[in-house]
Amino acid sequence: MTRNPSTATSLPRSIMLTSLLFFTAQCSDAYAPPPVAPCHRHRWSSSLSSAAAPSATTKPAAESYAASGDENITTRDILSLDYIRSTLIRQEETIIFALIERAQFRRNDIVYKVGGVPGLGVPPGSSTDADGQEEEELSFLDFMFIGTEALHSIVRRYESPEEHAFFPSRLPKRSNSLSELDYPNLLSNDNAINKLNWNKILYDKYLSVIVPAIADKGDDEQHGSTVLADIAALQALSKRIHFGKFVAESKYRSNPEGFQKLVDKGDADGVMALLTNEEVEKQVLTRARLKASTYGREPLMSSLPKVERGDGDQSTAVIAAAAAAAVVAAVEAMQTGGSAMKGKVDPSIIESIYRQLIIPMTKDVEVAYLFLRCGRDPPADFASDRMSVDVTYLSPL
Ligand SMILES: *[C@@H]1O[C@H](CO)[C@@H](O)[C@H](O)[C@H]1NC(C)=O
Repeated sequence: MTRNPSTATSLPRSIMLTSLLFFTAQCSDAYAPPPVAPCHRHRWSSSLSSAAAPSATTKPAAESYAASGDENITTRDILSLDYIRSTLIRQEETIIFALIERAQFRRNDIVYKVGGVPGLGVPPGSSTDADGQEEEELSFLDFMFIGTEALHSIVRRYESPEEHAFFPSRLPKRSNSLSELDYPNLLSNDNAINKLNWNKILYDKYLSVIVPAIADKGDDEQHGSTVLADIAALQALSKRIHFGKFVAESKYRSNPEGFQKLVDKGDADGVMALLTNEEVEKQVLTRARLKASTYGREPLMSSLPKVERGDGDQSTAVIAAAAAAAVVAAVEAMQTGGSAMKGKVDPSIIESIYRQLIIPMTKDVEVAYLFLRCGRDPPADFASDRMSVDVTYLSPL
């Protein structure tokens, strides 16, 4: 993030693309496909049925760049099967860190109230509603979110198939001369599928279920920081949930007749059952809880010996001790249910968020996608303004 914004438009295209694709995770953290893979071989194929399955052997980008000596990669390379598989795992870090960030502030309800922070005016850059309600009042969060999306949309964020705006009607028409980006056709090119957008229900559940579960009651005056943390968390969650589209496409390609038959019968439960992989879901939940217990606590520095910089053997020993301490901490958290640890967000809450909100919403997206993919409108329960099985609070395991 050290680029001078004024030179952004003249940056080489590949750099712009990468930073757009990894809006939430900065470029250096991005995963790339394995070295020798020419882009087109990694388009979807029926062997992709495990796209949702975690792969333990994914290499971070730096490693594969170094191995391949390839200096530049393209969006087409990045939006490959390998990327999609690894990014679902990578997104867990983004989501968990974002929730931990949000949890350091009080609930600060006033930032969610329409007119709670009066006199904000119109979010800069946003398009106003057709009926000219320029003076409409917004919550502080909505004001910041609409303005943020307006800015991001001008550099093409919402032209990426991975990105979905929370306020699509407020996005300005792009009038600059940035070229259109070249994305591989990973998804069925259907207007209704492009328009599937689960952000409304996600936004509702984030405010009504997630924030009360992770943030302490009350107000600490950190309103700006709070909404920035909210925006980061919502964008990370949105990206994860809408990856259901990519996952659904890969599942469809592995069994087109199976899905077609169920959709022809209007059997949404059957579609849900066919796309569900309980083993993978269990792995996601275990990983989420483990990561939350590891990232959510202070490193146990005080129990480690002091080491001078450059003292090779000693620092290795300390790193090993720190790693061991983290393992012990994580194991403890798994055993005690997390309540005994002094974490910043209880790992069992992170796990519940995955179990009760993230995974079900992702699967709702998948069902809707698969219906449209097979030529039918999704049943009413799978409209994008609800959860097919509503969740109004997080229940412990
Ligand atoms: C990588 O991209 C940069 C910037 O576009 C370009 O100058 C350079 O020649 C490219 N390298 C290769 C190996 O294509």
